[in-house]
Amino acid sequence: MRTRILDIEYKTPGQIDLMRAAGLLVATTLERLRAAVAPGVSTAELDTLAEATIRSAGGVPSFQGYQGYPASICTSVNDHVVHGIPATTQVLRAGDLISIDCGAIVDGWHGDAAITVPVGQVRPELLRLARAAEDAMWAGIAAAARSAASGTGRLTDISHAVADTIRRAGRYGIVEGYGGHGIGTEMHQDPDVPNLGRPGKGPRLVPGLVLAIEPMVTLGSRHTVELADGWTVVTRDGSYAAHVEHTMAICEDGVWVLTAADGGRGRLGALASARALG
Ligand code: MF3
Ligand code: CO
Repeated sequence: MRTRILDIEYKTPGQIDLMRAAGLLVATTLERLRAAVAPGVSTAELDTLAEATIRSAGGVPSFQGYQGYPASICTSVNDHVVHGIPATTQVLRAGDLISIDCGAIVDGWHGDAAITVPVGQVRPELLRLARAAEDAMWAGIAAAARSAASGTGRLTDISHAVADTIRRAGRYGIVEGYGGHGIGTEMHQDPDVPNLGRPGKGPRLVPGLVLAIEPMVTLGSRHTVELADGWTVVTRDGSYAAHVEHTMAICEDGVWVLTAADGGRGRLGALASARALG
C-alpha cells in the first residue's frame, strides 16, 4: 500500500471553539438556503442569499476564488453530484433534487457543510436517496465517535461506516473520486476522508482532529465526469445524485458536529460519546 506523509493540523480546544463559530455560520446560512429552495428560484439567487448571510455576520465565503471558483456556494442539481456553479439560467423546478454546499471563514477558521434538498414534490426514490446519503454521513460521524472513544480507532473506520450504510440502504452508487477532508485554517487539509474502504487504516482518531465528512451517492453507477466548465461533476450515466456534508471535531469528551446547530446531539443522542452543546 502507498503511504504518504500527512501534514495534519491538530486543533486545541480553544481553536475548536473558534471553528464552531464558522460552523454555526455555515449552519445558519444553509438553513436560510433550505427555506429559500422552491420552484422558480434560480441557483444564482441562492448564491446571493448565501453571500449576504455570510458577510452580514462578518464571515467570508470561502469558496469564492478558491482555485478560481466564481461563487459562494456549489449548487448541484439532479445528475450533478458536486461543484455545480450557481447560474441565473438555472431555475429550480418541482421534482428537482439540489445539493447546496457552503463554506465560510470566521476569524481565519473554516466551516464546510452541504445539504440535499427536494424542490417541491419529488419522486419518493429521491427522498430515499437523500436519506441514504444523510444516514451514511451520520454513521460516519458516529463511527468516529465510537472509534475515538475506544482509543484505537483510525480514519477509515469512518469510510467503512459510510459505505456500509449506503450499501445497506439499497443498490446505490458510491462516488469514489471525491470525499471528505481535514479542515481548519484552510478548507482542504490532510487527511483525505474516503467514502469507502476497509476499516482500521490511516491516522488515529484523536482529540484535535477536525474533519469534513461528505458522502456522495447516486441512483445508478458510481462513475462521474467533469463538465467543460472545469468544475461541475456529473454522473456518467445521468442518474440523480445526493451529497451532504458536516464538519466535525474530535474532542476529549466526544465528537462535536460544528456545522450542526445542535452540535450533533439530535442524531448522535444515543451515543454516550456525543459532546454536549458548547
Ligand atoms: N465544499 C467543497 C468540498 O468539500 C468545496 C467546494 S469547491 C469550491 O470539497 F471550489 F467551490 F470551493
Ligand atoms: Co468539504
